[in-house]
Amino acid sequence: MATVLNLGTRLETIVSYCSRTRTIADIGCDHGQVTAELILQAKAYNVIATDISSASINKAVRLCSQLNILPFVSFREGDGFQPITKYDSIDCAVIAGMGGSEIIKILQESKIRVNELVLQPMTDAVKLRGYLLQINFKIVKDVTVKEGDKYYNIIKAKTGKMKITELELYFGVTNLEELSTEFIESIRVERAKIFKIKELVGELNKDYKAQIKRIDKVLKLYYEKQKSEGRK
Ligand SMILES: C[S@@+](CC[C@H](N)C(=O)[O-])C[C@H]1O[C@@H](n2cnc3c(N)ncnc32)[C@H](O)[C@@H]1O
Repeated sequence: MATVLNLGTRLETIVSYCSRTRTIADIGCDHGQVTAELILQAKAYNVIATDISSASINKAVRLCSQLNILPFVSFREGDGFQPITKYDSIDCAVIAGMGGSEIIKILQESKIRVNELVLQPMTDAVKLRGYLLQINFKIVKDVTVKEGDKYYNIIKAKTGKMKITELELYFGVTNLEELSTEFIESIRVERAKIFKIKELVGELNKDYKAQIKRIDKVLKLYYEKQKSEGRK
């Protein structure tokens, strides 16, 4: 994977998860890099770039102007999907770099039905996965990527029904299928953080204990996979 704008892994993965289509909405576009990359890669014929902040919209306009792609982008200030009308007929919406609960709120308040969502929650990924299933979206991709020393969950969902296991809800369907190095590293880091808390407070609460159990189940799957691949 490579991007025209030389984006980092987080934004590169977000763009790669958007299907090639006519109109994509970039909700909370900020710097406008996703918007611009979608046009430069011809992922969309046009992008509607929205943001609640006028300063962010200005940043996106500046970038798209420098890149000479202004005719392909519609910039709109406002909360969530509010600046988008049904006549825009968007095929896909990107909502990235916000808290999972904020993303849920944006989806709850939307009067627009979109068939494809590419989401990158900074927090509350578990809550967001649960919400997507509740509103009849199936998760088609769900990975953890690493950029610098941070891990990010990126979720691609499409309209449809799906049932997932508790482990998939907590860690992501694709992560459990692929057991990638970044994902395994991320849960090891999370495990170490929980044990650090244990050192500080003595006894862990039941949520942390349950999370350690889930992490250990996944690590067991990973070690078994490693062992079976070693035998091949
Ligand atoms: C951290 S930036 C993320 C920018 C970009 N999407 C990314 O992933 O790099 C979050 C952006 O979302 C915008 N934002 C936050 N809440 C919003 C909402 N309810 N509706 C639209 N934009 C929102 C902020 O103004 C900010 O520009």
